Amino acid sequence: MRRTVKEFRQAKGKRLVYLTAYDYPSARLAEKAGVDAILVGDSLGMVVLGYPSTVPVTLEEMLHHTKAARRGAPETFLVADLPYLAYATLDRALKAAERLLKEGGADAVKLEGGEEVAEVVQGLTRAGVPVLGHVGLTPQTASQLGGYRLQGKRPEEAERIFKGALALEAAGAYGVVLEMVPALLAKEITERLAVHTIGIGAGPHTDAQVLVFHDVLGLYGEFKPRFAKRYLEGERLFLEALSRYAEEVREGVFPGEEHSF
Ligand code: KIV
Repeated sequence: MRRTVKEFRQAKGKRLVYLTAYDYPSARLAEKAGVDAILVGDSLGMVVLGYPSTVPVTLEEMLHHTKAARRGAPETFLVADLPYLAYATLDRALKAAERLLKEGGADAVKLEGGEEVAEVVQGLTRAGVPVLGHVGLTPQTASQLGGYRLQGKRPEEAERIFKGALALEAAGAYGVVLEMVPALLAKEITERLAVHTIGIGAGPHTDAQVLVFHDVLGLYGEFKPRFAKRYLEGERLFLEALSRYAEEVREGVFPGEEHSF
């Protein structure tokens, strides 16, 4: 049965599993694997749509993928990312969240940033929209942070991230993603917050973990973030299978009698 927002609000200390999924087959697999929550992340812009970053992702694209993921995982709590600039004002955020929840079937939305987005998070939660926060490396504004690199090594950076997480909690976020921050900082934030933290590249001390589907299955070319663990060499296995199919067609091996009527 699908978990409720209340369960996630009370998820402190539970080692919940989040996984991204972006379409019917990936969400179906995630649900069958028994993950606690699916994140339709705007990382889909890179791993599914081939954009160089998450910046070009549109609300229509998020909606399209959220709907497909929901069809694949009707029983799993599903969070959809608000794309870049879709929450630049509370009005825009409410309109985008309305579409992702009503049309897309999402249970919650996620947005990036700390103190600077707290007002929007408060407006959304007051309107009844469950919100997941995201601090540390925030990919939509990675360029302003010096690229895809560890955040919070310097004391002033760590303080900004810490304050950001606190501001998100105070604004009503039901949880906070900590991306690419030192494990010790993630531990301190996790100990301080009453809501659950979800780590990606944040070490072992966060309440929950999240990984990108394509990183787990080795489906994003040669690129492998250091924090991700590859549980399958998917690209190699897919390539072998597809090459065999092509070979068998060319050699007249496929279709065989068992595939013919
Ligand atoms: O877009 C995404 O997939 C994310 C996760 C990496 C947390 O934001």
